[in-house]
Amino acid sequence: MSAPSTPLVLGIETSCDETAVGIVRGGQLLANVISSSMELHRRFGGVVPEVAARAHLEAIPSVIDQAVAEAGVSLDDIDAVAVTSGPGLAGALMVGVGAAKGLAQSLSVPLYAVNHLVGHVSVELLTSEGRDLELPTIALLVSGGHTSLLLVRDIVDDVVVLGDTIDDAAGEAFDKVARLLGLPYPGGPEIDRVARAGNPKAYSFPRGLTHPKDQEKHRFNFSFSGLKTAVARWWEQHGDSDDEQLIADVAASFQDAVVDVLVTKALDACNEHGVKRLVLGGGVAANGRLREVAEARCADAGVDLRVPPLSLCTDNGAMIAALGAELISRGRHASDIGVSADPTLAASIAQAGLPPKRHVSDEDLGEWINQRDAEEPSDQAEFVEQVDQAITGMQPTITPPSRRVNKARRTWLPTIASSLGVLGLALSPAFGVGLIPSILATIFGQVGLRQHPAKRGRLIVALVLGYLGIAVSTVIASVLVTPFIRALLVAWGILLP
Ligand code: KG4
Ligand code: ZN
Repeated sequence: MSAPSTPLVLGIETSCDETAVGIVRGGQLLANVISSSMELHRRFGGVVPEVAARAHLEAIPSVIDQAVAEAGVSLDDIDAVAVTSGPGLAGALMVGVGAAKGLAQSLSVPLYAVNHLVGHVSVELLTSEGRDLELPTIALLVSGGHTSLLLVRDIVDDVVVLGDTIDDAAGEAFDKVARLLGLPYPGGPEIDRVARAGNPKAYSFPRGLTHPKDQEKHRFNFSFSGLKTAVARWWEQHGDSDDEQLIADVAASFQDAVVDVLVTKALDACNEHGVKRLVLGGGVAANGRLREVAEARCADAGVDLRVPPLSLCTDNGAMIAALGAELISRGRHASDIGVSADPTLAASIAQAGLPPKRHVSDEDLGEWINQRDAEEPSDQAEFVEQVDQAITGMQPTITPPSRRVNKARRTWLPTIASSLGVLGLALSPAFGVGLIPSILATIFGQVGLRQHPAKRGRLIVALVLGYLGIAVSTVIASVLVTPFIRALLVAWGILLP
């Protein structure tokens, strides 16, 4: 890529139940399209990973189209693709990573696989939202999947995880307690709503990991499982699902306990690290009481509180694109195309799939130059320039010169690649047997792109279908194999039934 100074970056986010695509140009937000599969999970009372993965697969092509239309650009204008590679739900992440790989390869642009949690903080890089990321900052990220306290001194190179939840995430606690009180999923907004009519001091529920004995080991960690159990026990003895005031009081008291712990620990972190800024992120940051208490207590402590607008608080592709754009503006190397989803990616790693630093010996260079001389003598100057750039550090690794393209050869490649893509995706729900045609589709698609640039459209379809087929087949196969392995382990007495 020619590394434009304000690159147009498309970001894909599929770590949980939102299929989201954002497009940014540098720090300017151009599009932020989010499609949520929450309705599908409602009857289960929580996100079902396989249902989420399937929903991403169905939604992603149209979400990409909508984002491109909203940004007023064409896919060919995209300079780089960024994608969440973790942390998150394995199957859901795989669909996003698969789609991003297909898109990046078909557009011949670099791929940046990035960290979801760092992405939440990167929202602050979107200067068009009227903000600027000022560092250092403490970041409190609270959603259905995570509750993390980060110290961010540098968005790419210096993110320290101060604490995490040791059991339920804050949003998960909201969802579970709401269910207990007979409120629908997702419970956070429901509790937020009914608690407005309740008394937050009506009942005193436990504040997890705030006891003096927890200060040494769990100063910045969170625990909401004890609180959830305490509310459940209380409700079992005194609950009345017809008493709206009682529900409002319990909801408000529970919410107060969560908010108190979140804000107290975040401000303790600011204090301990001498940081005067706090960024909130994640779905729970939409909570009215959390915003109110955080604003009041931050003002008292002289801490500058940043809460992104709702569409950028919950999971979104714009934050992923923003982080990708930041990596590009710092001249970072693209992620390896073989990068995979990493459900437990640590927040200290902003970018995944970085190729190992390769030492290029004079011998290697000589060999490549000889190879190049033998194959394409006319392009010698271009190759020398490539080597030159590599040596001066502008391009950290060198790829051997590509082979001369014989355009007349393998004219069947685009047709075969796209047919395999369709076949692979169609077969993937059936016990994952679509894996082989899908892999072949991506291989033929890549070879085809090099040999038949004129058939780009069909090959793009083949690559995207191929990668999606790989993702779905792997998810489905793992879902089918897990109970079988479990049964074997139980039969062998390794696992309790
Ligand atoms: O960030 P998000 O949209 O998705 C992930 O979980 O990654 O967060 C969803 C979570 C759910 O648990 C939902 O109940 C919670 O955020 N939530 C809220 C509110 N709005 C959403 N929790 C408390 N108050 C809210 N207003
Ligand atoms: Zn999130």
